[in-house]
Amino acid sequence: ARLVVLLSGTGTLLQALLDASADPAYGARVVAVGSDRPGVAGLDRAAAAGVETFVHPLADRSGRAAWDAALAERVAAYEPDLVISAGFMKLLGEDFLARFGGRTINTHPALLPAFPGMHGPRDALAYGVRFTGATVFLVDAGVDTGVVLDQAVVPVEDDDTVETLHERIKTAERDLLVATTHALVTRLWRVVGRKVHWDQ
Ligand code: GRF
Repeated sequence: ARLVVLLSGTGTLLQALLDASADPAYGARVVAVGSDRPGVAGLDRAAAAGVETFVHPLADRSGRAAWDAALAERVAAYEPDLVISAGFMKLLGEDFLARFGGRTINTHPALLPAFPGMHGPRDALAYGVRFTGATVFLVDAGVDTGVVLDQAVVPVEDDDTVETLHERIKTAERDLLVATTHALVTRLWRVVGRKVHWDQ
């Protein structure tokens, strides 16, 4: 299966997918990596693995709708089976979801619907929860509101800072994303309402 990964930062989630897909038995490979900003480490990781990259800055387009439509075109050129938003900091809009909705997944460093948005680990720490974690979900038009595919629980330690907590979450998040992506490309599945049904 063909994966296109969208990112905005260090790309440790991408790296986990690159490492896993090096094994032919994984059943999927990253065919392209796109970023909304140039010069991020995630693009270097892709290049180091010989994966084609593209940069798609919002500033280059005449507004978000044009940016979104152009992004859909660029991604479509790679004929992905699955699009993975892995630390991508832009919302995917109507055009993109018209073409790739239902086969675009995202990860979030919290147990949705708790602590959505840009600061999941910070918000969980501030709230004082004992456990948080990571969520992989199908992207819909909302912010972190899509159908949950799987989740992983992570304890919050008494001496945690936002950084130590986020790093612990990212460790679980990487494994969750690799496993969920593998399941999506090797098993039959369908969504009924907000429930995902996997083949037996
Ligand atoms: C991940 O925790 C992701 O859920 C969040 O930002 C982090 C991206 O990490 N949106 P990386 O760029 O994959 O290292």
